[in-house]
Amino acid sequence: MRISRQEVFDNHSRLMERNAFYRRCGYDSDRSTAFILAQALPLPGRILEIGTGKGRFLMALLSHVSRVTTIDIDPAEQRCARLNVAYAKPPGRARFMIANAENLPWPDHSFDSVVSVNALHHMKNIPHVIGEVLRIARPAGKIVLADFNTRGFSIMNNIHREEGRIHECIPYRFKDLVKRFTAHGWTAVLRSDYCQAVLIAVKASGGGKNRRGLRILKGSLDRTNNV
Ligand SMILES: C[S@@+](CC[C@H](N)C(=O)[O-])C[C@H]1O[C@@H](n2cnc3c(N)ncnc32)[C@H](O)[C@@H]1O
Repeated sequence: MRISRQEVFDNHSRLMERNAFYRRCGYDSDRSTAFILAQALPLPGRILEIGTGKGRFLMALLSHVSRVTTIDIDPAEQRCARLNVAYAKPPGRARFMIANAENLPWPDHSFDSVVSVNALHHMKNIPHVIGEVLRIARPAGKIVLADFNTRGFSIMNNIHREEGRIHECIPYRFKDLVKRFTAHGWTAVLRSDYCQAVLIAVKASGGGKNRRGLRILKGSLDRTNNV
């Protein structure tokens, strides 16, 4: 992809303006990203991100891991993320791919870690996407799915309304996702801060610890503002 310095700077200015506007409306994307990252790390092995978007989470993640494969269905959004990464110059490297989360182009168990941030509510067939996530994640891997909680959605909906747009949201409940993971032998924990809910799932192999030493509380579920 050819990109000019001007394009990188213009794109960065737009992102900063957008983030400032979000902050004025009550959503601090830096704070949310930091919260999600704190819940997600460490992310072992080969990492897939689903829903690159403008790359806010990707940029933060690439400061902590060496490589991430990131997919999005929308080339324009992903181009924006490429420009943002080009500006931020994080130490890690991203492999950008256009793909549909409902039909991931990899064989079973291809990734040790799968993450997705604020993208699930855009997916037309969430049960199908979760099926794909479960298929490509390795046993003893880690899955982190973050999305807005009730307050986060309310702020985003207001922002869209103010701008004369509709925030397209496919309704789903994190509690149902937890049940789905549990049914497949994963242990899922939910955490929530002021605007975000985060589901962290790991697969226990017998005892109280998985292979990477992550403490597992079987069936534990934090109280959260559900989405
Ligand atoms: C709000 S953005 C994600 C934000 C991003 N993770 C960040 O941290 O900046 C949601 C993204 O999900 C993408 N998306 C929606 N449906 C998808 C699908 N079926 N497969 C892959 N990406 C999808 C959209 O194109 C959009 O770029």
